[in-house]
Amino acid sequence: MGKNIANTTHTFFFCDGGSCQKAGGEKVIRAARAYLRNNDNWNDTHTIKTRCNGRCEDAPTCIVHPGEFWYKELTPEKITHIVKGHIQNECPLETELLYREGWEEQVSNKEIAPIKPKPFEFKSDEELGDCLITRGFSSDQYLYPLFLFLLEKPEGVTLQLPNKPHLAFKDINAVNYSKEFTLELQTKTDCLEFFIAAVPKENKELQQLKISSTEYFYQKETTKTGIRFKNKFGKTLGRIEFDSINTEAWQYCTKIQLQRLTLDLSQL
Ligand code: FES
Repeated sequence: MGKNIANTTHTFFFCDGGSCQKAGGEKVIRAARAYLRNNDNWNDTHTIKTRCNGRCEDAPTCIVHPGEFWYKELTPEKITHIVKGHIQNECPLETELLYREGWEEQVSNKEIAPIKPKPFEFKSDEELGDCLITRGFSSDQYLYPLFLFLLEKPEGVTLQLPNKPHLAFKDINAVNYSKEFTLELQTKTDCLEFFIAAVPKENKELQQLKISSTEYFYQKETTKTGIRFKNKFGKTLGRIEFDSINTEAWQYCTKIQLQRLTLDLSQL
């Protein structure tokens, strides 16, 4: 039988994302779990590994509930004090806190400014001609939501893949992202694949297929907007085009994918 979670007094959320792993997060998690086991707290506490908590600069990180206690730069020694403090005295280890409820801002020595897309700039592009273009984000945390949005709002959206006929997005019935690296677009007769998750460095074939660059553009000649996907070697893997600058999907792209970047047509 599993734990009776109704008895849980404390939950520790340990980040298991890439930066925290590199910074020794696994040793921290093991130390916390060993402490809980040896002090007879195993059955009334819970430890959970999470993906990135968005504070990689402070890795390894952990969040403690109840309360809203965020800890930074953890080591096995620190986490043992932290776990003990919360369980025995409900007392956080203030010196190691990144944030707690009620603070106006987090306390970090390693603050990194958020990465934002650069403004659109004019370019004479081999494929697109004269255009305004910028680069968005290419991680699956951006691309999966993008494809889901386009599935919901397909009006005026066309998919162009090398050596395939153009496909209206309204003919796509489903977007699946259940495989390790691959997002699938399902049509009545076909299943189109996009590689959107990090693929092994040594696998040359997958490196060729992985989307590593996502560019958003406005074409001067056609007045169309769109997205171009490339691999890390600069080869175009596909394009999405929007009929006009006013399509709901393009507006979504500038607001969500490009974080409210404006397109200044006077640059053309
Ligand atoms: S990987 Fe842990 S906070 Fe980002």
